[in-house]
Amino acid sequence: MQPVKIGLLGFGTVGGGTVRVLARNAQEIARRAGRELRITTVFTRDPSKPRLYSVEGMRLVTDPWQVVEDPEVEVVAELIGGISPAKELILRAIELGKPVVTANKALIALHGNEIFARASQRGVMVAFEAAVAGGIPIIKVLREGLAGNRIEWVAGIINGTCNFILSAMREQGREFAEVLKEAQALGYAEADPSLDVEGIDAAHKLTILAAIAFGIPLKFASVYTEGITRITPEDIRYAEELGYRIKSLGIARRSGEGIELRVHPCLIPARRLLANVEGVMNAVVVKGDAVGPTLYYGPGAGAEPTASAVGADLVDVVRAMTADPENRVPHLAFQPDALSDLRVLPMGEVETAYYLHLRVADQPGVLADIARFLADHDISIEAVIQKEPKPSQQDVPLIFLTHKVRESALDAAAKKIESLPTVKAPVHRIRLETLE
Ligand code: NDP
Ligand code: HSE
Repeated sequence: MQPVKIGLLGFGTVGGGTVRVLARNAQEIARRAGRELRITTVFTRDPSKPRLYSVEGMRLVTDPWQVVEDPEVEVVAELIGGISPAKELILRAIELGKPVVTANKALIALHGNEIFARASQRGVMVAFEAAVAGGIPIIKVLREGLAGNRIEWVAGIINGTCNFILSAMREQGREFAEVLKEAQALGYAEADPSLDVEGIDAAHKLTILAAIAFGIPLKFASVYTEGITRITPEDIRYAEELGYRIKSLGIARRSGEGIELRVHPCLIPARRLLANVEGVMNAVVVKGDAVGPTLYYGPGAGAEPTASAVGADLVDVVRAMTADPENRVPHLAFQPDALSDLRVLPMGEVETAYYLHLRVADQPGVLADIARFLADHDISIEAVIQKEPKPSQQDVPLIFLTHKVRESALDAAAKKIESLPTVKAPVHRIRLETLE
């Protein structure tokens, strides 16, 4: 059988990893796909860049359209990132009837509905395993492995850069900015790292997970997104003293009135498996009604872990090239005409417990005033600790853990608390999930 000819768009971290992995595992991959997979054309803006691996037999081009339009190229792997020109290139590949593999979660989250509709009309597969949780085959799990379940919730550490930063801050007491630089040097971060630390990359991934878990269209604009930039070393220390770790989580959950879609830092009990996922590792817990809670763990970013997912998608699309489009797994797991548009809960309606960090005057009655405002809003306190003031400061840190409360009630109580003259700074709050 003739080899399948693959065109790569992008020769950076993931593109380079894909070239290496496909070369190293060529035989194993061919045994699985039934045909040899050969990368023939590669787009890079800098073909003269020194590479530590062979590019023999590959045509390096500086115009991405030369990859897509190359009549020899049968499958296109988009590993550029961003919206444009990635979107135009993918749509053109679809128009030409070429299956596409992409690692681009931003593009899928924002334009996936349109891309999948076009792909379905044309009978072309667009595969995106590498777009979520790097090397963990979570798309395959949700689309196929758990297809017999009604998925109740998905919660995960789905940004390697954030987890790498939070782990280094906790374990080594290192500064945020310094660790972020290291994550960039290791190829974990996005080209614009604010997408990572502001939670946007995780929101892209959660958009995709929620769509295939619940059978809803991709709804990036409905995801509540909060980054890790306001997490301080003190928060990490106090959380630890209380038996918790701080992680950035993506959560998609069915509730009586709709679904929750949120990405934000979270305290998790230190005994939970998710709390012990460190560094660039990712982990996703999926709760299905039949199977119960299941956990998927692995590297969430980096050249070869991501190339592992790209390779799996290439094998899938090559196997499917001869299959009837009607008999393929639908892009978003559910048949396109069976997607339902569930209501996404506004954050005011979401219920979680809270960690509250206040700075207050060190004088009698302050604690009682705050406790009264919390009680007025039916917020019950699980724990409270008062810390020593810092040498240069007059006010003292006061930490509360609350039981579960509606976010709108917490907002109202915080507003009252902040109006007290003895409260010296806005209430700093982090949501707390027990993941039971
Ligand atoms: P890199 O920046 O390392 O590589 C991107 C490649 O695309 C480079 O070849 C670059 O050219 C080229 N490129 C970038 N911007 C443009 C543009 N505007 N026009 C034309 N070419 C461009 O990115 P990664 O390999 O890290 O990421 C690629 C994709 O994979 C992204 O969608 C990312 O989100 C996703 N991803 C990344 C992971 C990771 O761990 N890095 C993990 C999972 C997904 P040049 O070489 O000249 O700079
Ligand atoms: N920047 C992403 C992360 C890459 O750190 O998780 C993997 O999607």
